[in-house]
Amino acid sequence: QQQEQQAPPGYDFVVVANRLAVNRVTLSDGSTGWQRSPGGLVTALAPIMAASEGAWVGWHGAPDETLTPFDHEGMHLHPVPLSSEEVEDYYEGFSNGTLWPLYHDVIARPDFHRHWFEAYRRVNQRFAEAAAKVAGQGATVWVQDYQLQLVPQMLRDLRPDVKIGFFNHIPFPPPGLFAQLPWRHSVLRGLLGADLIGFQRESDARNFQRAVRYRLGHYIRSDKIYVLLEEPSETSSQMKGFNVDPSRGTAPRQLSAPGEGTYRIAEAKAFPISIDTDKIVELAAREDIIERARQIREDLGNPETVFLGVDRLDYTKGIRHRMKAYEELLQDGELTVGQACLVQIASPSREGVESYQQLRDEIELAVGRINGEFDSMAHTAIRYLHHSYPVEEMVALYLAADVMLVTALRDGMNLVAKEYVAARADGTGVLVLSEFTGAADQLRQALLINPHDIDELKAAMVKAAHIDPQDATRRMRSLRRQVVSHNVNRWARDFLDRLATL
Ligand code: G6P
Repeated sequence: QQQEQQAPPGYDFVVVANRLAVNRVTLSDGSTGWQRSPGGLVTALAPIMAASEGAWVGWHGAPDETLTPFDHEGMHLHPVPLSSEEVEDYYEGFSNGTLWPLYHDVIARPDFHRHWFEAYRRVNQRFAEAAAKVAGQGATVWVQDYQLQLVPQMLRDLRPDVKIGFFNHIPFPPPGLFAQLPWRHSVLRGLLGADLIGFQRESDARNFQRAVRYRLGHYIRSDKIYVLLEEPSETSSQMKGFNVDPSRGTAPRQLSAPGEGTYRIAEAKAFPISIDTDKIVELAAREDIIERARQIREDLGNPETVFLGVDRLDYTKGIRHRMKAYEELLQDGELTVGQACLVQIASPSREGVESYQQLRDEIELAVGRINGEFDSMAHTAIRYLHHSYPVEEMVALYLAADVMLVTALRDGMNLVAKEYVAARADGTGVLVLSEFTGAADQLRQALLINPHDIDELKAAMVKAAHIDPQDATRRMRSLRRQVVSHNVNRWARDFLDRLATL
């Protein structure tokens, strides 16, 4: 499976992501091997890598372990090591205890610790150096996500010859929230090292542009940012007397024209990500998977309405809001157990982070309370599963579910919503979708809801359960047109084609 690599050539295309494109698995003979990650990003980029001699730089998931580069299914993998302390400070700490909650509308409180940021800077430098080492002359390097926001500028400093893209998979917060970050200037300058900075939604791209304008005073026009090559210091732009409007305190003045001095151009715009639609469609048509969906419904006691939630167990996903709405519908007698069932898949995530541990306790308490009150010997109110499943089982669940509940309080995109739609080839099924997901910008024919409004969510769930089949089909057909015509390959191509023109 795994083969050692000879002296690495310079690769034309390099992806840099916190996670490597493979997961370690235990094989049937007890030894360990690697399996390609099932996620959309890897699926989209693997063929591009294979076609263009590409390399993937990322952490392999285990602390305190240094691995030599190896090849897997045509991909050249370059593992970046992290110590246990760095896992705590860079990954669980700054990435998932500071940036994740801050970028998701402070649904949970972000913690700010200087030693977390120091670790983030150090680890970002390590990723940048790893990328600089494997990239060939004039290569394209595509940096992924919020864990690596300093990498673009660090890489540019090391390798001014390479073309750099960055894609943020999560939201970019409004400037007023972003302003809380003590290292806001470092993050903006890090990102602006890229030639192209991609976001999920138009509003994320706009938030970023506004932060750049307010904080750094760069001139921006038609998504192009004129990055002045001499910039204000971290603590105060006023101290250097650079671009400062005295009437607005430390906030730099908004320039009305590119101004004097040397600058380079970075472009910031939206490229909404999607899924491997063909794969989901293909699985949804497979006999054994259709049979498995039938089996799932039977195991649940063949209820009239199966509601489904599929999420990483994360406080951004609005799982509690969904359960509250469902519980009230059972209390009101609008739904009854046996006639309705909620299947909630909550895959384990970031279990070393305290807010995730707390959330798990809260969810499991709520599930226990609701089931304790409403279950009968024969039927359960909520079938709660704290596991992750292979894609085949996920597609069977999509086929088994009459109503998909996506109630995130904030979500960069939400690919589950798109996968559900892709799986419903016969035009049945209803998607209840939070307007706070990136997906809501494209999936306009879903039943769009504000998950904070429990009454609205309840009304949408009732409507979904009793929807007129023609209305459901009309909506699902229109949703499917969107998802089928915008798969993840097109996303990757759109981004890389744009980058190539810059
Ligand atoms: C989100 C992020 C990804 C991350 C994934 C899983 O989708 O955008 O960067 O990889 O969650 O989280 P984890 O912390 O397990 O990598």
